[in-house]
Amino acid sequence: MGCASYFHFVIFSVVELPALKRLTLQPLTDALLPEALNLDQQCFGGLWTDEGYRREMASPNSELLIFLAESEAAEAPNVVALGCYWAILEEAHITIVAVDPTHRRGGLGQAMVWVLLNSAHRRGLERATLEVRVSNESAIALYSKFGFQVAGQRKRYYQDNGEDALILWRGGLHKPEYQHELANQWEQTRDRLITKNWHIDPTTFEPLILVLD
Ligand SMILES: CC(C)(COP(=O)(O)OP(=O)(O)OC[C@H]1O[C@@H](n2cnc3c(N)ncnc32)[C@H](O)[C@@H]1OP(=O)(O)O)[C@@H](O)C(=O)NCCC(=O)NCCS
Repeated sequence: MGCASYFHFVIFSVVELPALKRLTLQPLTDALLPEALNLDQQCFGGLWTDEGYRREMASPNSELLIFLAESEAAEAPNVVALGCYWAILEEAHITIVAVDPTHRRGGLGQAMVWVLLNSAHRRGLERATLEVRVSNESAIALYSKFGFQVAGQRKRYYQDNGEDALILWRGGLHKPEYQHELANQWEQTRDRLITKNWHIDPTTFEPLILVLD
């Protein structure tokens, strides 16, 4: 390599910034269902069927949301995360939080839990609960960041390997002071996404965030 080309290599290597990826939030739609099923398969080995997802999409008591990622390189946006809870009486029962394996550790899981809790708060729900495998340390760590605590254990809850489930619980979602907690958590979540080069789409996220002001 001559001096000039080496110089260009160094300069372009240094100044080249990673492309921004646009992140949008929306409910799952029919058109994106195959991608959601694919993500479900990768994350849970097929937790819900096509019919199961359609039932959730039609139910007013189910909040089923996705994050879509769009980069200049990609032809169409991809589903990179899924999240769902059921509103049962005054409780948000979180059924799914799943992030595309190629996008993990980039703040998407945290953002999805925040979105679900914010939605539950806006519905006036009082608490959130969920079951998680005792071995799922990453999910347990994620939920504990949002104040979830262990409320109990279900023995041999998972049929595939007979593993126990921890029941996690987070109260106080309906309290006025929870708004401030949500606002603080959003700042941390947003900053993390930005450092990971996500461009957060204001039109889909802002309606949520304005409620907190
Ligand atoms: C659990 C899951 C949703 C986390 O998504 P993610 O986008 O990688 O998580 P984030 O980057 O937002 O990380 C947020 C927090 O989660 C925890 N976490 C995530 N991955 C972790 C790992 N591999 N080890 C330990 N903690 C981890 C940490 O507390 C992290 O915060 P920190 O980085 O400040 O320590 C993802 O691993 C996943 O989809 N797993 C498979 C499906 C699943 O188990 N879902 C949960 C049960 S419903």
